[in-house]
Amino acid sequence: MDYLQLGNSDLHVSRLCLGTWNMGGSKGWGPEDDERSIELIRRTQDSGCNFFDTAHAYGRGHAEQVLGRALAEGDRRSRAVISTKILQCEPATVEEQLDAALERLQTDYVDLYIVHWPREGHDLEAFFKTMNQMKEKDKARWIGVSNFNIEQMRLAARHGVVSLQPPYNILWRIIEPQVLPFCRENNIGITPYSPLAQGLLTGRFSRSTEKTTGIRRKNVLFKEPVFSKAREAASVVDEIADQHGCTSSQIALAWLLHTDGVTAPIVGISRWNQWQDNLGALDVRLSDGEHERLSRVGMEVWDMLPEDATMWD
Ligand SMILES: NC(=O)c1ccc[n+]([C@@H]2O[C@H](COP(=O)([O-])OP(=O)(O)OC[C@H]3O[C@@H](n4cnc5c(N)ncnc54)[C@H](OP(=O)(O)O)[C@@H]3O)[C@@H](O)[C@H]2O)c1
Repeated sequence: MDYLQLGNSDLHVSRLCLGTWNMGGSKGWGPEDDERSIELIRRTQDSGCNFFDTAHAYGRGHAEQVLGRALAEGDRRSRAVISTKILQCEPATVEEQLDAALERLQTDYVDLYIVHWPREGHDLEAFFKTMNQMKEKDKARWIGVSNFNIEQMRLAARHGVVSLQPPYNILWRIIEPQVLPFCRENNIGITPYSPLAQGLLTGRFSRSTEKTTGIRRKNVLFKEPVFSKAREAASVVDEIADQHGCTSSQIALAWLLHTDGVTAPIVGISRWNQWQDNLGALDVRLSDGEHERLSRVGMEVWDMLPEDATMWD
């Protein structure tokens, strides 16, 4: 496993982060087997992953609880970097919400406390002040944000945020015009979510024709006419994978790992062999030409969507 410093923080995180959205048993992903999730979390940690992403929104705290149980064994918690998220809300309720998250996570602090989504019409400045109070109280070591646009990023940077968690993959390029350069200039670590476009870039929907079910039915990439174009782009990923003798998922993740400014893609898994496969991305070296070709075919998909698109309707 490779590790990188996360933005201006003192956190050293593995270059692949394990996402736990599907472990929350949320609507869309369907019910999960907690014991299996706990085993997956522990095995990823044993493989060198130290970075775990969760949120209250994943099953109303259920994913946090599962992560807490997985890391409660031995010295697992002290070896882990935990990020969890809070939806922007009344600042007065932040501490109460964080305390509840800490209880679910069975810990005294989170390493990274993230504003999950900014909320229109609510005072972001006041919210950051409260988030930073959590830092002063040693309940959160660092503050991050997710799903922020450029104006919101400028404000966030003034409040010392160290990371951004945006949707980002070969097909979903919303951060490239402004947010990505801003993060690079300000050393704000980027941890892309949905790096495999929820499986679209794994070959499952291009090499074979897996049925679109569950959460993917709400994902705009899985709706026509975008879906057909996305499958075309995915077959270029497949082609490059064949040339490298590796898997499509590894190429999709390697594209992100080779993008300047990206610290660690956050990948979701439901089976151990998916994690093993994804880990192989760290050994893939893309040429500049391959990186550019993937960027180009992905952009043809992104160009079909509104510039402020959100992934799920
Ligand atoms: N901040 C936010 O608003 C936000 C939003 C979304 C996600 N996230 C975070 O990002 C994490 C990942 O995002 P995501 O789950 O949306 O997307 P993703 O990581 O792109 O896709 C995950 C899904 O892809 C499939 N998969 C993974 N590795 C595979 C492999 N090697 N071969 C074949 N299929 C593979 C699995 O599907 P199956 O389970 O069907 O096999 C898995 O559940 C989440 O868990 C969460 O922590 C954050």
